[in-house]
Amino acid sequence: MNVQILWPTPLFTHDFTESQLDSWRTRAVSLLLPDEQLLNLYGHRPWCTTDLLHEDPVWADMASAIMSAANQALDSMAILREDAFITTMWINAQYQQSNHTAHTHPNSILSGCLYLQAPEHSQHIRFFDPRPQNSVVYLRKAIVEDHLVVTPIEGRVLMWPSWLLHSTESNSSHQLTKPRISVGFNIMIRDTIHSHSSRIRFGY
Ligand SMILES: [Fe+2]
Repeated sequence: MNVQILWPTPLFTHDFTESQLDSWRTRAVSLLLPDEQLLNLYGHRPWCTTDLLHEDPVWADMASAIMSAANQALDSMAILREDAFITTMWINAQYQQSNHTAHTHPNSILSGCLYLQAPEHSQHIRFFDPRPQNSVVYLRKAIVEDHLVVTPIEGRVLMWPSWLLHSTESNSSHQLTKPRISVGFNIMIRDTIHSHSSRIRFGY
């Protein structure tokens, strides 16, 4: 029997080297608020840098490494393009457990999260089946059900199509022993759009 898989949804992972991870984590830790402030952030929300970190020469090596992985992902999806670039890149840090409700990343092709520090009990990320009709019958499946939970691993980057619904969830009530530090980013391409479209203007 032959099968044709239609409209697959890729989730890419790539593990950076220990030396890359050490260098980026040391640099990120040096930016953090003092512990007493980081421990008491209003509403348990994460502390974030500016989302234009990719324009800071200090982070050029990390931006370049992320773009290299992103281009491999775009090649894998056979997305034709003249170029690809980071539109936003920022660092999140938090001691407290918190949830980030299900969302997508508009005006992007590819989005991702790189974990620089992921202590025990760190929040995991949950991806949702993008086919709403698939919930008509909840079948037991051996591969993936209607969601996929991914545990953060230090030095690992996850990348997915930006339209894919995902959330970040605490998996325990424990306060973390050190901050969970992650890098979020969005990627867009330059190319000719082959149908009518409004021009997207980025805010820079
Ligand atoms: Fe997100």
